[in-house]
Amino acid sequence: MEEWLKKAVFYEIYPQSFRDSNGDGIGDFNGIIEKLDYVKELGCTAIWMNPCYDSPFHDAGYDVRDYKKPAERYGTMEDLKRLFAEVHKREMHILLDLVPGHTSEEHPWFAASSRDADNPYAGRYIWTDHWLGRAEGFPYIAGEYPRDGAYVLNFFKCQPALNYGFLTPGESWQKGIDHPDCLATRDAMVDVMCFWLEMGCDGFRVDMADSLVKNDDREKNGTCEVWRDMLGRVRARYPKAVFVSEWNRPESAILKAGFQMDFYLDWTGNGYNLLMRDYDDTGRDDSFFRKDSGRSVLDFMEEYLPRYEAVKETGMYCLITGNHDTVRAAYNLDERERKLAFAFLFTLPGAPFLYYGDEIGMRYRSLPTKEGGYTRTGSRTPMQWDHSANCGFSVADASLLYLPTDPAPDAPTVENQQARGDSLYHMVKELLRLRRQEEAFAVQDNLKLLWAQKDRRAFAYGRGDLVMLCNPSGRAEEIGIEIPARCETLFAVGGGHPGQKGYLLEAQSYVILRKPGL
Ligand code: NOJ
Repeated sequence: MEEWLKKAVFYEIYPQSFRDSNGDGIGDFNGIIEKLDYVKELGCTAIWMNPCYDSPFHDAGYDVRDYKKPAERYGTMEDLKRLFAEVHKREMHILLDLVPGHTSEEHPWFAASSRDADNPYAGRYIWTDHWLGRAEGFPYIAGEYPRDGAYVLNFFKCQPALNYGFLTPGESWQKGIDHPDCLATRDAMVDVMCFWLEMGCDGFRVDMADSLVKNDDREKNGTCEVWRDMLGRVRARYPKAVFVSEWNRPESAILKAGFQMDFYLDWTGNGYNLLMRDYDDTGRDDSFFRKDSGRSVLDFMEEYLPRYEAVKETGMYCLITGNHDTVRAAYNLDERERKLAFAFLFTLPGAPFLYYGDEIGMRYRSLPTKEGGYTRTGSRTPMQWDHSANCGFSVADASLLYLPTDPAPDAPTVENQQARGDSLYHMVKELLRLRRQEEAFAVQDNLKLLWAQKDRRAFAYGRGDLVMLCNPSGRAEEIGIEIPARCETLFAVGGGHPGQKGYLLEAQSYVILRKPGL
């Protein structure tokens, strides 16, 4: 694993919405450059930027029309290369978003592929061999193009699946993963990765990394084999390249496919989801970090720990504050609750990912869909910098903005969060400073759950000489472990003290202690 990853904290930037430097209402590369010092000062060491390639934007850029061309609305190739250079000047790193599973239907490969069955790109996508043939078991489209057949989709209608083959081909039109057409798709994607690494990015967040091989088995062995081959070839040329997968199965992604990092994704009812987003349409919300939740941290740990244990020697299973697909953390949790939740996320092993604006408590807003965002649109609004027009995001007329800023008089901004000493922003900054400073946080295999019970809210965990104690509930709770009297308090939201049998934590508190040296 690359050394810098051990101390890395990523900041996810949705380029449409971070900072508009030329007044056209949409964010751009130069705007991101203007704000790099902000990201660094906050304590983040690396950036993941959502897709920034030429695209018709039917899925916010996850529908790529040209893998090697920056989207005009964000700037030129020179601007993007300057962004890479400015990031590196600050000793930071930057990952682009690779979309290997599908292209836009406007990609020239697809234009060729959809013409007829006899052209160099005929096998780049997955086509059935007759218009009456059905791609049973897969979403597919027929009747749109001259070619006789239906084609398989990977996500939206605008995103035809690239052809990496089938693990066990069942129909005549299904090719094995080693078919020359499928190998040519791999070559094309290796070429794309090398192109951007040569331009100066440090690696990739990989979209739907598990989606490549169709009819794959449970462990996704076919997809893992394809990745081992592609990552191996890229790393032979760029040994420092870093890859984080959108997969949520670290045993496959890290141990078999060869990614350094995998995301713990927000899936309804999974361990991560229960921490911050456990709500339903009836208004019931039992998210663990809510003051009044009935949950125990074991609901999370029982899923997280075995996966962490399985990969801790090899790679990182990474937690997020949220991302461009989730509702904002502020939707369910108030500021105090988010302080505890973020303190927890930022002190677990792995590299945490902070979604832009979560550090100032940006809200989820109910908005009409934009660029295929649907309900995700409300989490993609412009970053709110200050009290000037459009919250300092853009000087354009408000009607021209990519998405509206929060009109509320108390809309959170960087300016008002910085002005308030006890804000979430300051807590995040202080904690990230501590995270960089304490070596125990860089060690990946030292997490120990010290105390947790099914019927209790408070819990404790350790990493090396550090002990973390957390009580998310509205009442003081005692944690049944002995804490040596001479412990040093390194960080505290709320507080606690040694009690009768253990350590008594005040309501909604989080404390980091250092055990005395021997
Ligand atoms: C996952 C991305 O995060 C999401 O935004 C996108 O719509 C789909 N993959 C399709 O690429």
